[in-house]
Amino acid sequence: MDRAALDFPNLPFAYMDTDSNIRYKFSGGKWSEGELTTDTTITMHMASTCLHYGQEIFEGLKIFERPDGRIQTFRLEENAKRFQRSAAKLLMEPVPVDIFKEAVHRVVKANRRFVPPYGSGASLYVRPYLLGVSAEVGVRPSDDYLFIIFVTPVGPYYKAGFTPVKLMVEETIRRAAPGGVGDIKCGGNYAASMRATMGAKEKGFSEVLYLDAKEGKYIDESGSSNFFAIKGNKFITPHSETILSSITRMSVAQIARDMGMEVEQRPVSLDELSGFEEAGCLGTAAVITPVESVTWGDKEYLYAKDGKAGPKVTELYEKLGSIQWGEGEDPYNWTEVIE
Ligand code: PLP
Ligand code: COI
Repeated sequence: MDRAALDFPNLPFAYMDTDSNIRYKFSGGKWSEGELTTDTTITMHMASTCLHYGQEIFEGLKIFERPDGRIQTFRLEENAKRFQRSAAKLLMEPVPVDIFKEAVHRVVKANRRFVPPYGSGASLYVRPYLLGVSAEVGVRPSDDYLFIIFVTPVGPYYKAGFTPVKLMVEETIRRAAPGGVGDIKCGGNYAASMRATMGAKEKGFSEVLYLDAKEGKYIDESGSSNFFAIKGNKFITPHSETILSSITRMSVAQIARDMGMEVEQRPVSLDELSGFEEAGCLGTAAVITPVESVTWGDKEYLYAKDGKAGPKVTELYEKLGSIQWGEGEDPYNWTEVIE
């Protein structure tokens, strides 16, 4: 393999063109075979439901190169299943799990030279998405769908990698309400979250922490990741019907249990901020990002000293990394080598 000539250790989390993407069409009640293409543009009817009624969902996952030079997926099946749950909620045609997995394998193999080398800290980000493409003007679901996956090599989501970030409690803008779509990965949730995130960045924070929409008392999640905190031997993370159920969080909670920690998934009140010792964000892009501080109004709560993550957050990060990068054992069979 002739690896792409890129500065892999210094990649940003940003889009770049690769060799190809893959596309499947759903029409006449069935899925097409799937086609790899070099075309980075799509042509669709101007009245497609994705364009004006937001019938769009997506996923995010990563491909890691192992020390032995082979490449692997991490919990691919979970992304496939969540993609189906997202589709169901927006009355879109769910992509069968087998097609989802096959599509990821095909597009990754076709772009093998863009998978960053082991040790660079970078990985190949995989972005599947599904679009309603029937022309409609009444509010009703599409009959036809387009399923696309593009890939792009990426570095850390937050510039400095495993370095603590500052979060701000968002007291005005709400991300999602009970009964809504906060628990699925649809583009609309991200469109709605941009003004909060950009507002926080202007104030010098990396991201916001959203609150529950009903009472404004409980922590929901961050704009692009779930939240957790450490108190003594406890791993504490919000239970909420309005957050995306993070596959990273599910995995790290299991790792925490196996480290002998107690996992509490329950409503987490803002009043608890003062009692936490460490905190972090969890997500595919964010991996585990340590939280340096959470600012709530005029109070700042600190969870990292001298810009360094605490011991529990660091241990969880190392254990997760060892599995994702194929350095150590994979006791849960979360990874799969792409042959
Ligand atoms: N919450 C939101 C809003 C996200 O966008 C993401 C990213 O996918 C997550 C949480 C983390 O989910 P996962 O660990 O499955 O990537
Ligand atoms: C991911 O972590 O994969 C996401 O989809 C979050 C996104 C904001 C980059």
